Amino acid sequence: MKNSVVSLQSFKNTGKKISMLTAYDYLTAKLIDESGIDSILVGDSLGNNVLGYQDTLPVTVEDMIHHGRAVVRGVKNALVVIDMPFMSYQTSVYDAVLNAGRIIKETGAKAVKLEGGEAVCPQIKTIVTAGVPVMAHLGLTPQSINLMGGYTVQGKDCKTAQKLLDDAKAVEKAGAFALVLECVPSKLAKLITETIKIPTIGIGAGNFCDGQVLVYQDMLGMNMDFAPKFVKKFVDVGNQMKNAFAQYKSEVEGGIFPSSEHEFSMSDEIIEKLY
Ligand code: KIV
Repeated sequence: MKNSVVSLQSFKNTGKKISMLTAYDYLTAKLIDESGIDSILVGDSLGNNVLGYQDTLPVTVEDMIHHGRAVVRGVKNALVVIDMPFMSYQTSVYDAVLNAGRIIKETGAKAVKLEGGEAVCPQIKTIVTAGVPVMAHLGLTPQSINLMGGYTVQGKDCKTAQKLLDDAKAVEKAGAFALVLECVPSKLAKLITETIKIPTIGIGAGNFCDGQVLVYQDMLGMNMDFAPKFVKKFVDVGNQMKNAFAQYKSEVEGGIFPSSEHEFSMSDEIIEKLY
């Protein structure tokens, strides 16, 4: 079944949990889609996980379009959502609509995601009015890392928890179709999930959210330098890749690979005619 913002809402209404993973390239997106995952996020975590930046701030609209297109080509059923990168929507409502429009027109994705609450509601409202579904993102918002001072849990005291709840209500009112909650205590995520009608998708926000999202390299165990508490490694692909690379090197050096099964043959007669 082809997923849409409407089907994600119906999952919340009927109590079916929503599964979402990031992807940044064609083959990974195809594998994720064929596994039946409901939605794929082309996250600006592209910066850390693919392009090797320290954080998401250097990622550009062009980067998102380039990788977004590749992902869309690999997907038949999952709802593809593309992150609006740092400074592509904060600067003005005009920039926000223009860049959201570019991302949708040039990739074929069905929705965009942006970070922030009350402050970006005018952007959310205008993008949605223009016909583009918007996923909001609250809690740990990596584009504000320099304000937050680190990748820490958000909303632990009364003031910041109230602000998160107010922001959740505000983005819903502005027209967001779903809300990512990142690094938020599970009790607060539960309250937000019960308070708003749109689906919440958690990452480090506990089990009460309407769905979950993870960075695919984290859940495959490919990112060996970084293991946040909320990530479960479903498989140890990182070590499997290293072992396979090392075995390849050793077989190349030992003349074991390629063996006859990997060779193309031709008749001796032809070889003998050559001079
Ligand atoms: O960029 C990203 O991968 C994200 C997820 C962590 C939600 O925003």
